[in-house]
This record gives sequence, C-alpha cells and structure tokens, in this order.
Amino acid sequence: LPSHLREDKLSEETKTLISSLVSYKDASRKLCNYQGCWYYYNTLQGVVNFQRNFKPQDSDIILASFPKSGTTWLKALTIALLERSKKNKDRSCDDIHHPLESDNPHGLVPFLEMNLFLKSSTPDLTNLSSPRLFSTHMPLHTLQVPLKDSLCKIVYVWRNWKDVLVSIWHFTCINLEETEAEGSFTLESMFDSFCSGVNYFGPSWENVLSYWRGSLEDPKHVLFMRYEDLKAEPRGQIKRLAEFLACPFSQEEEDSGDVEKILELCSLRNLSSLEINKTGTSNDVHNSSFFRKGEVGDWKNYLTPEMEKKIDNIVEEKLRGSGLKF
Ligand code: A3P
Repeated sequence: LPSHLREDKLSEETKTLISSLVSYKDASRKLCNYQGCWYYYNTLQGVVNFQRNFKPQDSDIILASFPKSGTTWLKALTIALLERSKKNKDRSCDDIHHPLESDNPHGLVPFLEMNLFLKSSTPDLTNLSSPRLFSTHMPLHTLQVPLKDSLCKIVYVWRNWKDVLVSIWHFTCINLEETEAEGSFTLESMFDSFCSGVNYFGPSWENVLSYWRGSLEDPKHVLFMRYEDLKAEPRGQIKRLAEFLACPFSQEEEDSGDVEKILELCSLRNLSSLEINKTGTSNDVHNSSFFRKGEVGDWKNYLTPEMEKKIDNIVEEKLRGSGLKF
C-alpha cells in the first residue's frame, strides 16, 4: 500500500490532533477532516509537516489539482516549458536526454504532502534547482499558512468531475486491487463518497473553489486552468501557461514549431509509450496507471443518467454564485 494511504508515520502530536478531528472510515481506511479537507492519516502527517516546516522561495512553482484532473499532464507541460528556458536554446525540447524521457512526471515533480513532507518532517530540498517545482492536492487555504507573503506561483488544473470520478475508480482498482479486499472499490461506492464530499482530498468543490477564488483575487500568482480547455485548444493554453510562468514563447520558437514539439512530447500517446512509464513506479504507484484514455466525456460509458443528474445538481448547487462553470 502506498505510504500516503497508510497510518504508520504518525507522530504523537499528530495522533493527538487526529483524536480531536472528525474521522470517517471508508471501504477500507480511516479519513479525518483537517481544515475542511479529508485526508488519510499519513497524508495528514505530511500536511502538518509541510505547514510547519516548508520554507518557500519566491521562484517556487506549485502545481495543484484535485486527484485525476490532469496533474500528470500539467507536470509534464511545466517541466518541458522550464527545461527549454533553463537550457536557453542550447537544447531543444526534442533532445534525447530530456528529463521526461527518463523519469515519470511524478518522479520529477514531487507532491509536498504525499512525498516530500511525508518521508521526512524536514526534507532536504537544497539540491533542487531553481525554480523548484512541487505539486499538491491540498486546498489553497491549507497552503497559505506557510506561503504567507511568498511570491511563488501556483497553477491549478480543474476537470469535469464526472470524468474525474471514472478516472479515480480506474486508478484505484489498478493500484489497490492487489493489496485490499477484492470488490471494495465499486464505482457506486466511489460515486456515493464523491457526492457526499467525504473522500480523499474532498470535498472536490471546496478544493476547486479555494483555487478559483485565489485566481480571481491574485491572478499574477494563481493560474486557473481546465483539462477540457487544454484538450480543445492546447496551443493557446500552453502559451497561457508559459506566459504565467514568465517563460513565453519567442517568435523564433513559435516559427520553429517548438509549441507543437512540447505538446507532442507531453502527449499521452508519447509519454505512455516511454519505457519508464510502461514499467516504472513512482512512490509505490505504477507509472503506467497515470495514463489511460485522457478523453473528455468518457464518463458517458460508465455513469447512469441518475448519477449524471446527481453530479450535475451538485455542480449547480455548490458552485452557484462563484462564477465558475463547467
Ligand atoms: P483518464 O483516466 O480519464 O484517462 P492525474 O494526472 O491528475 O492523475 O489524472 C489522470 C488523468 O489524466 C487520466 O485520465 C489520464 O489518462 C490523463 N492523462 C495523463 N497524462 C495525460 C496527458 N499527457 N495528456 C492528456 N491526458 C493525460
């Protein structure tokens, strides 16, 4: 079982904290609600360590999302964008030694709460080159404690929850089937917990709203992206991302097709065909499980009309008045 899902890393302090929090046991494990978000216990330990010990640098970039919303893609695109500006044209994005060729995007961009600050309460970050790239599924208000007054940039990717739900279900079945009781992960039970909001990093609406509001309040430091927009107009969206990260494409780069090269490098087809993504693992998770169909609307093959209606009603109710729409 991946470490972030277990409960064997808890300090005495965190055990005491957990005893003061609302807890809930899902099909197989206990979750607790901390600052409005549901975590498995070890992940909470990572969150607490992060809040206590993370020292931001103004050049940091944090890639944020609700699970299964396009995190892997966003990581790959950001790595590719920065790699090109780091090497400043000495090396083009189709260089054979590109980091994406030898490591999975999750190996290159660690999660703050599920990797770095879970492995150690004070991880050694000194050998990370600038800008440092991190990722998270925590809601924005939980990040804001250590990030107070920091100028670091945050990119959030949002995806239609019906596709997210189907993606979570597939991912969980692939990665946990071997370790947990067979049959504990039905689409129906995941649908119920998703709709109740009592699910890992849920409620999803609190997660997205925290970043949506953050992007409205501080657009220079919080960029809000959508998976569906990336699929529909990848060129426009990657240029938007590059501008936000202060590494826009020059006319020369555009003319020489660098935008398309990065999109091709980061495409699901290309990434999933690399050896490292076919066979490797990142933090006890099969790299291959991060790549499935990558389609918009795949939920239609899985959800009943009743399920569709229930999620649509949640969207309508929870996002009302926020200005945020699917
Ligand atoms: P599906 O399960 O619908 O196929 P995350 O990266 O947040 O874990 O999200 C995983 C989802 O993103 C999966 O969706 C996966 O197939 C899709 N995905 C992964 N890499 C992608 C890429 N390079 N381009 C587009 N979609 C990608």
